[in-house]
Amino acid sequence: MSEDGQRIARIGVVGAGLMGHGIALEFAAHGHKVTLHDQSEAQLERARAGIAEGLGRLVEAGRISSETAREAPSRIAMTADLRAAVAAADLVIEAVTEDLEVKRAIFRDLDAFAPPHAILASNSSTFMPSLMAAATNRPERVIVAHYFNPPHLLPLVELVRGEQTSDETVETLRALYTSIGKRPAVVQKEAPGFVGNRLQMALYREALAIVAAGIATPHDVDTIIKTGFGRRLSVAGVFEVFDAAGLDVTLAVADQLFPEIDNATAAPPFLRERVARGDLGVKSGRGIYDWPPEEALALRSRIGAALTAIARLGDGQAPSSDSAPDRG
Ligand SMILES: NC(=O)c1ccc[n+]([C@@H]2O[C@H](COP(=O)([O-])OP(=O)(O)OC[C@H]3O[C@@H](n4cnc5c(N)ncnc54)[C@H](O)[C@@H]3O)[C@@H](O)[C@H]2O)c1
Repeated sequence: MSEDGQRIARIGVVGAGLMGHGIALEFAAHGHKVTLHDQSEAQLERARAGIAEGLGRLVEAGRISSETAREAPSRIAMTADLRAAVAAADLVIEAVTEDLEVKRAIFRDLDAFAPPHAILASNSSTFMPSLMAAATNRPERVIVAHYFNPPHLLPLVELVRGEQTSDETVETLRALYTSIGKRPAVVQKEAPGFVGNRLQMALYREALAIVAAGIATPHDVDTIIKTGFGRRLSVAGVFEVFDAAGLDVTLAVADQLFPEIDNATAAPPFLRERVARGDLGVKSGRGIYDWPPEEALALRSRIGAALTAIARLGDGQAPSSDSAPDRG
């Protein structure tokens, strides 16, 4: 036991898709033994290539040595047998499809198959931890550990407490993630979408409303975000930006614009119509933009290379004291 809670040596990752393979490779790169499970053997095979590519990115980012990248795959076992995957785990991270019934069935099995001391975490983007905890007999050891894609390149993990999640569970994961160079942020009160996705959705809603109203094209909206405030947001959070601009200026702008911005409670036809006709984005070759294979590859490389370069720079810390209303 560490001073922060139990020691986590062995980690089971359930679901070897986009997120699961990235979660697994990062733990293995930091010396943990990982067992990666998927119901699909073909997916496990695909994950091997993704793991090799992801480890290469961690080397480029200066986070691990080439030697570590060579050794790390030997620390990842793969199996299509869930029981075998979690039988010796101290921590299981579930990263299967975003379907509550699928997740609840998995949590029932994890509760039966994983050792009693094991912490069961979900990488769900939206479901509150209590919904998964209710399928187990260990709600105090159930938590959401929400990564952002690509999970091995973005430092954030939102640790979302459920109603019954214990302090020890939170502190154990906080210590674990800090030890592998992640930046865990604790979400104290569960709410759908936690914090990161609520913030992103607020921006997405306004972007869709701007395009639907003909104020700007998708291309120009993306340019405004990428070359303007989006660039700044990766180094200064909104509350740091408020203080840098001055709260008086922030208040004046908020009073002017809050009545103007969108407050719809459903997604607009602009998005719904595209989904209905099968224009799903990169995966179908067309979404908001057209995505011939070479453009799709270029987008993926551009994001990966830029996030790798940013990872080399590290990230800034906001001052630790703030005037949040609940702290007086
Ligand atoms: N994609 C993102 O940007 C992102 C970001 C943060 C969180 N998440 C969350 O992570 C989770 C996984 O998302 P993803 O993008 O990796 O999805 P994905 O479709 O790439 O991978 C899901 C994997 O789960 C496997 N699976 C499905 N049901 C299973 C079962 N019963 N048992 C074992 N394996 C099963 C599938 O075979 C697939 O390989 C979701 O909850 C999602 O909301 C995704």
